[in-house]
Amino acid sequence: MADVRFVKADTLKAKPDVTKIGFGTHFSDYMFVMDYEEGKGWYDPRIVPYEDIKVSPANTTLHYGQAIFEGCKAYRYKGNKAVVFRAKDHIARLNKSAKILDIPQVDEKLVYDALMQLINIEKDWIPDGPGQSLYIRPFIFANDPYLGVSVSKCYKLMIILSPVAAYYAHGFAPVKIMVEDTYVRAVRGGLGAAKTPANYAASLHAGLVAHEKGYDQTLWLDGVERKYIGEVGSMNILFKIDNKIVTPELDGTILDGITRRTVLQVAKAWGYEVEERRISTDELLQAYKDGKLEEVFGSGTAAVISPVGELGYDNADTKMVFNDGKIGPFAQKMYDYIDGLHTGEVEDTFGFIDVAGQY
Ligand SMILES: Cc1ncc(COP(=O)(O)O)c(C=O)c1O
Repeated sequence: MADVRFVKADTLKAKPDVTKIGFGTHFSDYMFVMDYEEGKGWYDPRIVPYEDIKVSPANTTLHYGQAIFEGCKAYRYKGNKAVVFRAKDHIARLNKSAKILDIPQVDEKLVYDALMQLINIEKDWIPDGPGQSLYIRPFIFANDPYLGVSVSKCYKLMIILSPVAAYYAHGFAPVKIMVEDTYVRAVRGGLGAAKTPANYAASLHAGLVAHEKGYDQTLWLDGVERKYIGEVGSMNILFKIDNKIVTPELDGTILDGITRRTVLQVAKAWGYEVEERRISTDELLQAYKDGKLEEVFGSGTAAVISPVGELGYDNADTKMVFNDGKIGPFAQKMYDYIDGLHTGEVEDTFGFIDVAGQY
């Protein structure tokens, strides 16, 4: 177990009514913090009361965005356990993003142990209603008080926790997605594979435009030919074509989603053929016309599975509607299965669950 200093809070907060708070608005009593300085490495791992932090107005992240983050979840599990889903994979991905942004690597075992310790301390913050969870946000940001554009010498790693309501509070529902052929978010050789703020900043305007046009989210195409499918705002995208599960390959422009991995592993275990490859919009349209594009759905930590009822090209006035705009049977089955893995209703044969504490 890592040597993590613990600073006790004088008072603890009242827990909010989680059905009323949506996503990311309330934070638990404690957070994990660790600092880095060039020549010294990562130091002083500690769990301290959640509070605002002070940064210099010249903080390099505020100006140049050298930062990365993760998002995973803790659940109440059968047998009164507090568990985290695929924690090690999320911490490994944090290090992958760190490499892309020239942020120093973290000791994954230390961060994992600290996270488990934090979740154990905060296990009463894990809400126990259906679909509810405690969202975990690890992040690292450059912390130099310096206005020059260069790789920073100081960093801070923090993990904060936020209880979240069920994503589908009004029932598991399909979304309308707009194929984005005006704006681009990432290109090969860029930052697309990193979970870094720049990718989200680059997606905000297009998201707003899509909303104004009546769509829930945008589907990014490759930034060069505007022809190959990438990913959705905060989800990977998967297709069921002629009974195969097909998803864009990890070409450096999209995130290596942990839920995407889960879906592919489960689909394989169910006996489906799985393909990770380039998918063009022409191929999709043809498969749709031929009646072979059976289902489309997104995958991500927030929604787990998000069935797509409609895929539209605003500029070309083309629309594809799946399952009459209703949930497809594969997406429903996959959602139920992964939801069951989170809560222990489905046996964890994959080793995705890590127990942080017992009630
Ligand atoms: C851009 C992007 N793609 C894909 C995903 C899905 O990744 P995961 O399944 O690891 O949550 C996310 C969410 O984290 C995301 O922000």
